[in-house]
Amino acid sequence: MQTRQLGPFTVNAIGLGCMSMSHAYGTPDPVEAEKALLRALDLGYNFLDTAALYGFGKNEELLGRVLQGRRHEFVLASKCGMFKGPDGKRQIDGRPATLRQTCEAALERLRTDVIDLYYLHRRDFSVPVEDSIGEMSRLVQEGKVRTLGLSEVSAATLRKAHAVHPLTALQTEYSLWSRNAEIAVLDACRELGIAFVAFSPLARAFLTGTLSDPATQLEAADIRRHMPRFYPENYAKNLALLTRYQHIATDANCTLAQLALAWLLHRAPHIIPIPGTRHVAYVEENIGALKVSLSQAQMNQLDQLINHTTVSGDRYNAATQEEIDTEQF
Ligand SMILES: NC(=O)c1ccc[n+]([C@@H]2O[C@H](COP(=O)([O-])OP(=O)(O)OC[C@H]3O[C@@H](n4cnc5c(N)ncnc54)[C@H](OP(=O)(O)O)[C@@H]3O)[C@@H](O)[C@H]2O)c1
Repeated sequence: MQTRQLGPFTVNAIGLGCMSMSHAYGTPDPVEAEKALLRALDLGYNFLDTAALYGFGKNEELLGRVLQGRRHEFVLASKCGMFKGPDGKRQIDGRPATLRQTCEAALERLRTDVIDLYYLHRRDFSVPVEDSIGEMSRLVQEGKVRTLGLSEVSAATLRKAHAVHPLTALQTEYSLWSRNAEIAVLDACRELGIAFVAFSPLARAFLTGTLSDPATQLEAADIRRHMPRFYPENYAKNLALLTRYQHIATDANCTLAQLALAWLLHRAPHIIPIPGTRHVAYVEENIGALKVSLSQAQMNQLDQLINHTTVSGDRYNAATQEEIDTEQF
């Protein structure tokens, strides 16, 4: 097994993102999700990613129910700071009392005594990040949480928070088509000894080649419908990039999804991709990326083929972009 360091934990170099089992990409299928979770542990996945946000607690509940007898087999990561607001809609809230409440409810949903890695899901711009992380560090002192992380923050915010409590991980989007992390946070993580957990490493299915027509394949409630890169006019142009991408995958003797993950693993030793899936077959396929070896020439070809200058459409729409710590760009 290829491993990576995640603070005090040594984990499989590929983790499992559990979001789509309950949230974001269409109607959940708990039966298949349960099979996928169990198969993942059998295959050696030992770093699982969830959040209070996913299905407003349903994803944590799923993991708690299905994996309660196997809790010792994996490093459990969850997130606070983005949950259901009083109006029933998603709300960013980094106030200390809210984070504590979310953590205590999460422990019950997850049927565990301790969360190994607890992230602040989004920085709340109305609360100093030192206050949010300060309260989370008290959760560590109390033994409810083992280590801390942040998600989607700038290098400056990362440094501020790291000064309050040493961080284990930063979780931010990173894939061939989302390269913002290359501006500053990847380097900041390396310098500070913080693992970089790459979310949406398959470009939310774009880099798997299975999503050919978002307009007909995605359900009405799928969040990708609101992401500019998936708008029909942009997506058609993005799809054209996959022809050469497929040639490189054939050359490397792997699938398209495996190529996307192998590119990340070859990029730097502190990067841990967490591909998301609710399907057994994809759980099996994705871990196969550990066996893929890419030459420097293949890495260069990929870099030039798919990057921020060749992709059409912004990563997020304007409303979602406003929630992000833009200092990172
Ligand atoms: N911190 C944050 O703000 C944040 C934001 C987004 C995600 N995340 C975390 O990162 C994880 C991964 O990100 P993501 O799920 O957004 O994107 P992703 O991993 O880039 O892509 C997931 C999509 O690809 C599909 N897929 C997975 N493996 C495949 C394969 N081998 N062949 C074909 N299709 C495949 C999945 O399908 P199925 O689901 O239908 O199997 C799903 O539609 C999430 O689960 C979550 O834990 C964190």
